[in-house]
Amino acid sequence: MEPNEKDRCDLSVIVPALAGTFKALGDPTRLSIICLLATDTTGTLGVSDLAALTNVSQPAVSQHLKTLKSEGLVESRRDGLYIYYTINRERMVGFREQYELMYAGIMEKCNRELLRKSGRDRDIRACVIFYSFSGITRRVAEGFRNATGCDLIEVRAKKPYTALSAYTRGVARSRKMACDPIEQGEIDVSGYDLLVIGTPVWAGRAAPPINGAVKALRGCEGKIAAVFSTCLNAPGEALSNLGSALADRGVSVRATISLEQEETRRPDAGGELLKRIIDADPFGDQDLEEKRP
Ligand SMILES: Cc1cc2nc3c(=O)[nH]c(=O)nc-3n(C[C@H](O)[C@H](O)[C@H](O)COP(=O)(O)O)c2cc1C
Repeated sequence: MEPNEKDRCDLSVIVPALAGTFKALGDPTRLSIICLLATDTTGTLGVSDLAALTNVSQPAVSQHLKTLKSEGLVESRRDGLYIYYTINRERMVGFREQYELMYAGIMEKCNRELLRKSGRDRDIRACVIFYSFSGITRRVAEGFRNATGCDLIEVRAKKPYTALSAYTRGVARSRKMACDPIEQGEIDVSGYDLLVIGTPVWAGRAAPPINGAVKALRGCEGKIAAVFSTCLNAPGEALSNLGSALADRGVSVRATISLEQEETRRPDAGGELLKRIIDADPFGDQDLEEKRP
């Protein structure tokens, strides 16, 4: 999850909640108990079972369970003379959400530091131009924008796709590398040093609206670009096709980044894109000032 203005990491809320949970989990025996409960399929683990499995005395296990219960991480249920322990699913989900919020906040800072270290934070005027059908490419693009403060241009097809037409008309058009007419008409990029262009992969090709966007670029001759795609696991030729279309428009593609599902799902997918673009060093030793009129 990328924090937006609304739910940006509020340390005063997150820190006390997370500190208690980390403290409860920060003990090898308690963590072992959590792992045992997490892998148990019977739902009938009691103190004596956990004591035997962890090789710790029953009174000590009881004390550890009390700590885990007081943090809400573990629940118990009585069945006759026995008390069984299970993981509190909701509390675990909440813990993960809080941790991811903190993680996204930390990554935002790290990304800014990455930019600062690259020495390009003030120099580069960048924009990210993307098409997104189901929101994944948008999330990556927005994460990149959050990390860099660059401009964001979302491409919209004049004739939008539906869940059905994406797989019929959309796939047929992407196979032909067709250019969809886009709402923007023209995209003036003359004021930018770096164009970051992103598309979902459709049938191993770029989605037709992004082809339309490449056609609609104005002032792109001589610009430097990084292209990225998001997909499940089969990027096909989407980025090489997109690169060729950009080369035909006089754009020099210096970084080609394919993000597969596992990567796009990460909370800091936009930061990962930034890191890979910086690693590709699209400007090399070139002085940016030389590129400016
Ligand atoms: C019409 C269509 C065709 C797709 N074809 C591919 C494909 O060839 N390979 C692949 O790995 N994923 C494919 N996908 C999955 C998307 O590329 C992937 O989910 C992408 O991240 C979606 O980005 P978006 O949410 O920004 O639209 C396809 C999705 C759609 C809707």
